Parts: sequence; structure tokens; C-alpha cells
Amino acid sequence: MNRRQFLGGLALASAAVVVPVSLGQSLALTRRRHALWGDGGPALRIAHLSDLHASASVPLAHIGRAVDLALAENPDLICVTGDFVTSRAPDPGGLAAVLRRLSAAAPTFACLGNHDGGLWSARRGRDAEPDAVLEILRAADFRVLRNETTLVSARGRELLITGVEDLWSFPIDPARAAMTLDSRKRVVLAHNPDTKDEVARAPWDLMLCGHTHGGQVRVPFFGGRLTAPVRDDRYIEGLLPWGARWLQISRGVGSIWGLRINCPPEVILLELV
Ligand SMILES: [Fe+2]
Repeated sequence: MNRRQFLGGLALASAAVVVPVSLGQSLALTRRRHALWGDGGPALRIAHLSDLHASASVPLAHIGRAVDLALAENPDLICVTGDFVTSRAPDPGGLAAVLRRLSAAAPTFACLGNHDGGLWSARRGRDAEPDAVLEILRAADFRVLRNETTLVSARGRELLITGVEDLWSFPIDPARAAMTLDSRKRVVLAHNPDTKDEVARAPWDLMLCGHTHGGQVRVPFFGGRLTAPVRDDRYIEGLLPWGARWLQISRGVGSIWGLRINCPPEVILLELV
């Protein structure tokens, strides 16, 4: 077999892996359970979505399927951790209508991602402010937390939810976010899992993140995580401990360029017990 034949064979083999996942057919629900209180009380159920990346390569129908998956679980709360768009939403009104189905079913909280506007976007000639995305989220009736904390009650539980700014886009401000000592458990919404180091001295218990897309492209046989743009590549996906605290990193719903290899998109149903 010469080099050309070998490369042709490799391309065919790769295509067989790419096609099913890049069409979004494998979008699935991931169930997780985490002992946040550990008191045997009722479970508080959070649907966690991330990185929708509404764009020409991630159609609203795909995002709608993610919404269907989340709503089928009757979550108590819904959290969405940024990158609603890749640059500009092709159909802002349509995206707001799809997302409004989430907030109509349960209180829905969000933080912003680097693609939604800010310093990182501005450096690429895109929006320096996330106004276009905020307008969509306002229309979708989302509560966007930008260095803010809110108290939620569900299933007889009280939980602090803090959303911080995206690490690459705007300053993260734990003081402004009222991340002070509190007897109640605190979940942080932060797009980029590297944010953990920025808020290491603040009190929190669990951080929900996205950003990595789980690597998005994993070349067969190499176990590659080639596209995860994080400093700490121990935290690419999954529910993982960090000292006494935990991070959950979603592989996300959408993708850049619509391409995923061996890294299917997901919606997560997290049961906190
Ligand atoms: Fe993303």
C-alpha cells in the first residue's frame, strides 16, 4: 500500500466515524448524581446545557432536540453555561422561541461564554458587548447571572446559584457576585472550567461549565483532545473532584463548524442529593 492509498483509506475510515456524530444524531441525555447535601433528603434535579453555538452549522432543530431532552426529565432548574452563538445567531427570534420553552418549564439561569461577546470576541472583530445575545436571552425569559448570586428554592431545598463572567471576556468579580461565606450550598455557573482557579478563595461547592466541547475532535487510536482550549486539561469533561469541591463540564450541545469526532454532544440531567 503506498502513502496515497493509506491516506485515502484513513480518510474513508474517519468519514465513517465522523458522519453519524457530525449530523447531531447522537445528541443524548447524560444522567449524573452528586451528593451535595448527603442527607438522604429529596433530590434537586438540574438540567445542564452548554455551548449551543447557534450558527449555520448548528440549526435550531438540533438545539430544539436538546430542549426536548431536557424537558422530558421535568427538571426543577435549568442551567445553561454560555456560548449561545458562534458569532451572530442566524435567526435570533427563532432561537429565543426555542429557548423560551425551557424557561416556561422551570426557572432557567445562564452565564455567558466567550463567543457571546466581550474581549475575546472583540479581538476577532466580533461583538465587544454581548448585547445581541442578552436580547435573545431576555426574550427567552432567562435569568442571566453576570457576577451575581441568586437564591433558589425547590423540593424543600435552598441553593445559591452564582453566575460569573466568562474568563476570557470580562473581569470575574467574586465580591460583586456576593461569593461570601454562607451556610447554604453554592453552585457556580462559569463557562470555562479554568475559572475554578480565579474563584479558588471564594466559597462554592460545585461549578457547572462547558467551553471545552469535551475536546470536540478525538482522533481514533490517539485518544486526542485536540481542541480543548484550557490551561488545566485534567478538566475536559465529566463530573470531577477538585479538592473538596466538584466541577461538572459538559461536552455541549452544538459545536464549531458542526464537526465532532468520537465526542457526542450531550444534555446533562444532574441530580443533587
Ligand atoms: Fe463553545
